[in-house]
Amino acid sequence: MANGLDDVVAADTVLSDVDGAGGHLTIRGYSLTELAGHWRYGQVVRLLFDGFFDELPGDSELEKAIGNARADVFDRLQPMLAQLAPLDIYSAMRAGMALLPDGDGLADALRLVAAPAVLTPALLRLGRGEKPIAPDARADHAADMLRMLSGTSSPALAKALDTYLVTVCDHGLNASTFATRVVASTHAGLTSAILAGLGALKGPLHGGAPGPVIEMLDAIEASGNAAAWLRAEIARGERIMGFGHRIYRVRDPRADVLKAVVGRLGSRKVTGSRLGFAETVEQAALDVLKAAKPQRSIQTNVEFYTALLLEAAGFPKEAFSNVFAAGRVAGWIAHAREQQATGRLIRPQSRYVGPVPDLVA
Ligand code: ACO
Repeated sequence: MANGLDDVVAADTVLSDVDGAGGHLTIRGYSLTELAGHWRYGQVVRLLFDGFFDELPGDSELEKAIGNARADVFDRLQPMLAQLAPLDIYSAMRAGMALLPDGDGLADALRLVAAPAVLTPALLRLGRGEKPIAPDARADHAADMLRMLSGTSSPALAKALDTYLVTVCDHGLNASTFATRVVASTHAGLTSAILAGLGALKGPLHGGAPGPVIEMLDAIEASGNAAAWLRAEIARGERIMGFGHRIYRVRDPRADVLKAVVGRLGSRKVTGSRLGFAETVEQAALDVLKAAKPQRSIQTNVEFYTALLLEAAGFPKEAFSNVFAAGRVAGWIAHAREQQATGRLIRPQSRYVGPVPDLVA
């Protein structure tokens, strides 16, 4: 019995496949590199939802429906935003999403897709003492998210964010997707299932890692010696954020996709020196980890370049996990529907290792 369910296959899925030995990610028959940078997020939502909802419209109709869902979420939750804003930004988003209807239909699903993209910029603006900006239902999803954050959106940054959302839309039976499927298997509604996914995503061993990546880069820059800083962290028993993965034994393919996006932004003078510094830190971390854990192949994961991309897009590090949720929510919903369709409650067993009662003679 493995405490972390290592190597346990707990679901059949048509949604995505993580090839940990080869370093490939397949999403519904497409390789990650066919989708990221080529398909818009709204198109990928349709790809993931196909077959899981009745009367799913075509790409452009669904993108319009996501836009309308952004407006719907804003209208419903705007009166509550001031009460949510004092919470940390992830908890505030999660609390806002908990207020959405808990149904199983396409309208429920699209509100959940829209919610992180609407709530995150609105809550960030309130935290800065600025008025939230209402969604533009006709705009592209990623571009609108940036516009709601800062009032403007450049095509380059919108494309970068869109590519990020596509890159993280689904990833096999990761912790948050498994949590989502467990709740969906009880026939609770989609909001309940997505709240379980949000809870699991928050932790630093999963979707909470990219904020700490920025803290690590800043601390290493201040220290002036990457290798020494990293070795000291390992000696204290700390994990290096943005490195290691349960499934991948080679480099996470999402890291390369996101690094290329950051590189393209860098050529526009947005992140040039930051990227060069991060590459130096990455190489130092790989060397230090190889020396410290020779028995384990610890490679760069998705979170390392996520941090650089979201920083360049204008999000503060506290909100990086929110943006991760804005991408992953589509995968969670599709997995929830796929699990519901099996009709089977997820209910594993535990082995009791506690004290036994005295037997009465
Ligand atoms: N830094 C230092 N040591 C590490 C790291 C790391 N990033 N990753 C794994 N190790 C070590 C472990 O401490 C362990 O050492 P030990 O055998 O001496 O105890 C050994 O490598 C194996 O570790 P496991 O926990 O079995 O590896 P697992 O596959 O379960 O861990 C995880 C995966 C949780 C992602 C881990 O690599 C980690 O904590 N990484 C840092 C946090 C991070 O980047 N999270 C984002 C992951 S990607 C995502 O979820 C979207």
